[in-house]
Amino acid sequence: MVQLPAEAYPVHIAVNSLRDTAELIRQYTPARQIVIITNPLVDGLYGDRVRQGFTPERQVLTLHVPDCETSKSAEQTQRLYTELISHKIERGAVIIALGGGVIGDLAGFVAATYLRGVALVQIPTTLLAQVDSSIGGKVGVNHPLGKNLIGAFKQPLFVSADVSALQTLDDAEIRCGLGEVIKYGFILNRPFFEFLEVNLEKALLKDEATLQEIVRVCVAEKARVVEQDEKEAWLRMALNFGHTFGHALERLYNFSQLKHGEAVILGMKSALVYARLRGMLDAASAERGMALLNRVPVVYDKSMINPERLTEFMSLDKKVKSGKVRLVLINEIGKNFIEESVDISAIKESFGILVN
Ligand SMILES: NC(=O)c1ccc[n+]([C@@H]2O[C@H](COP(=O)([O-])OP(=O)(O)OC[C@H]3O[C@@H](n4cnc5c(N)ncnc54)[C@H](O)[C@@H]3O)[C@@H](O)[C@H]2O)c1
Ligand SMILES: [Zn+2]
Repeated sequence: MVQLPAEAYPVHIAVNSLRDTAELIRQYTPARQIVIITNPLVDGLYGDRVRQGFTPERQVLTLHVPDCETSKSAEQTQRLYTELISHKIERGAVIIALGGGVIGDLAGFVAATYLRGVALVQIPTTLLAQVDSSIGGKVGVNHPLGKNLIGAFKQPLFVSADVSALQTLDDAEIRCGLGEVIKYGFILNRPFFEFLEVNLEKALLKDEATLQEIVRVCVAEKARVVEQDEKEAWLRMALNFGHTFGHALERLYNFSQLKHGEAVILGMKSALVYARLRGMLDAASAERGMALLNRVPVVYDKSMINPERLTEFMSLDKKVKSGKVRLVLINEIGKNFIEESVDISAIKESFGILVN
């Protein structure tokens, strides 16, 4: 269990724990109405395990949204409100977000806003959701003009990450989650980076003990950042390592041919090259970083890489402050810093390495 002192909610990380959900909820709230928001795929795999422990005096309602990023929308939010109202779901209810980051963000936003807020439980079932999106309280939906533009902060009663649920994840989703995982090693935790150097293949093969250790460390790191960020607003920025480059890549590929985690892996490669070009990172660390990233295979259409356009997209990124690009970089493995005066030609050159 990990405590976030400022927000004070626990994160349970365990194996085969989905069937303990009802018992856990009972410990936190006497709520009689339980609403599970999920998608058909995750419900088919894990819904029964989550529902099984609830005694008959609890009203358990399961609501589905389509399995896609576009479910993070005002339309789905509205539809869910309508379902909740027509089922007479009251202020004392609990909403369970059962699924990946899409479900966590959408169900979390519904929980933050329905009747001015009802209790939320996060049950993340992807690696990305377990190590990243379920921690920190950011919830929200997309707008036709941009991703994650509408949102709120909503802290859950608790997060319950069942590492066993990751066994059914596609290999591609594991690789995406590992992008974020490696990021924590780069920016904050050198021993964890070294752990990944030893254990990366086990993680790719979904070895349960390895995944559990990974989720444990990453949750603790994200919790630490979120907690300290309350005092130092810039700290969350460190989590953007590889992301400013990555967002430009996602945009280049129209948010379809490249998954977010894959874009982050490529973005971290560019960030390493950039730091190296600027003389901010030694050659040995850059090579070591690159060697770990190269062990997570990412397939992308290299002929589409256009450093000029990517650099333009990067200046449009939302992390741009007063017209200036700011970059999170590392100056050694495990230590991040923010570069305020970015060198545009070095950025172009850093994107260039993705062509080779
Ligand atoms: N709130 C935050 O702080 C935060 C942080 C990072 C990302 N996000 C958001 O998270 C979303 C991405 O989340 P994601 O990568 O989890 O994608 P996702 O939610 O789309 O899940 C990926 C796929 O895996 C399936 N799936 C989920 N659990 C499974 C399981 N156990 N077995 C088999 N299949 C399973 C899903 O149905 C989906 O098809 C994005 O919308 C992103 O904006 C939010
Ligand atoms: Zn990310």
